Amino acid sequence: MKALILVGGFGTRLRPLTLSVPKPLVDFANKPLILHQLEALKEAGVTEVVLALNYQPQVLLSYLEEYGLKLGMTISCSQETEPMGTAGPLALARDKLVDDAGSPFFVLNSDVICDYPLKEMLAYHQEKGAEGTIMVTKVEEPSKYGVVVIDEQTGHVDNFVEKPQGFVGNKVNAGIYLFNPSVLDYIELRPTSIEKEVFPLIAKDKKLFAMVSSGFWMDIGSPKDFMLGLGLYLGSLRKKGSALLSDAPECFGNVLIDPTATIGAGCRLGPNVTIGPGCVIEAGVRISKSAILHGVRVKSHACITGSIIGWKSVIGKWARVENMAVLGEDVKILDELYLNGGIVLPHKEIITDVMQPQIIM
Ligand code: GDD
Ligand code: MG
Repeated sequence: MKALILVGGFGTRLRPLTLSVPKPLVDFANKPLILHQLEALKEAGVTEVVLALNYQPQVLLSYLEEYGLKLGMTISCSQETEPMGTAGPLALARDKLVDDAGSPFFVLNSDVICDYPLKEMLAYHQEKGAEGTIMVTKVEEPSKYGVVVIDEQTGHVDNFVEKPQGFVGNKVNAGIYLFNPSVLDYIELRPTSIEKEVFPLIAKDKKLFAMVSSGFWMDIGSPKDFMLGLGLYLGSLRKKGSALLSDAPECFGNVLIDPTATIGAGCRLGPNVTIGPGCVIEAGVRISKSAILHGVRVKSHACITGSIIGWKSVIGKWARVENMAVLGEDVKILDELYLNGGIVLPHKEIITDVMQPQIIM
């Protein structure tokens, strides 16, 4: 089977992390986001993946080669010369997606994390005789997403409304699709929105079905949602009884520590913390609800709450970082300073307290 991942966009909402790497390479739970997706696709029987991009894929390419070898998958790029939206890239990659047998293929938004019930989706798609199946999830704030109105009896999509102004329903497009090649006949080779221009048409022809997933799901395209998604992901590891979660006495709640990280004496870590490869966490450090990306050093007695610490950053002794601060790559915070939220661009040194959230360039 084949799959296409929509990797366009500049990931502006995840800056400053996306100033260092493209969004799919941002680490989520200690490994690049795209690896979560590739592993799930592999598990569902996908052997060929096309990444649809609208920028130079140079940085991605070497990683993709490595992942392809590791997972035994063929990974290729389909590059747009102008942003083609969420549907146009499918028309552009048509020849790469359709095989001789006319098999269905998966399409994924690159910024969603969930438990990827892809095998279930394939079975559902076949059972319904669907031409297209959308994975759907229930959310509390549907106006941020594409709302899917479903015929509860048949599973048909009756209507699709992208980012509705008023309340249409609370079941939304999870950004994971399974399409027969016939769906491509609805898509022209031009910048097009699959949500606004294509789904309403297929729905009208009664060929679009929705599979409601009850597992966890989150679009992690913004720092706040990234952290919420991390909590859900770690919670799902706990539910599965995963041995990856730390049972060290200094850990409270769900904590994921890469085996190459070192943790000093008397730390208190958790809940909802990830500590990436090569991190050095010195004695007496307190971290909760935060992602510490690889190569970070947190000096003794520092305290980090609800924040994302970018690769190779250094947090000084007794420093305090909180309130959804996002540090880019290689940021230094000197000893005893306070950083109250905001974002810090890569390679910056913070030498005074920052009392109000701001963008530090
Ligand atoms: N190749 C390519 N080219 N990819 C693109 C382009 C483009 O021009 N524009 C957007 N994408 C990719 C993004 O990188 C992302 O993976 C996906 O398409 C969706 O774009 P977002 O910008 O993240 O959209 P959204 O989050 O506002 O809404 C979408 O996702 C929601 C679920 O997370 C929609 O599909 C909603 O209906 C859905 O509910
Ligand atoms: Mg998104």
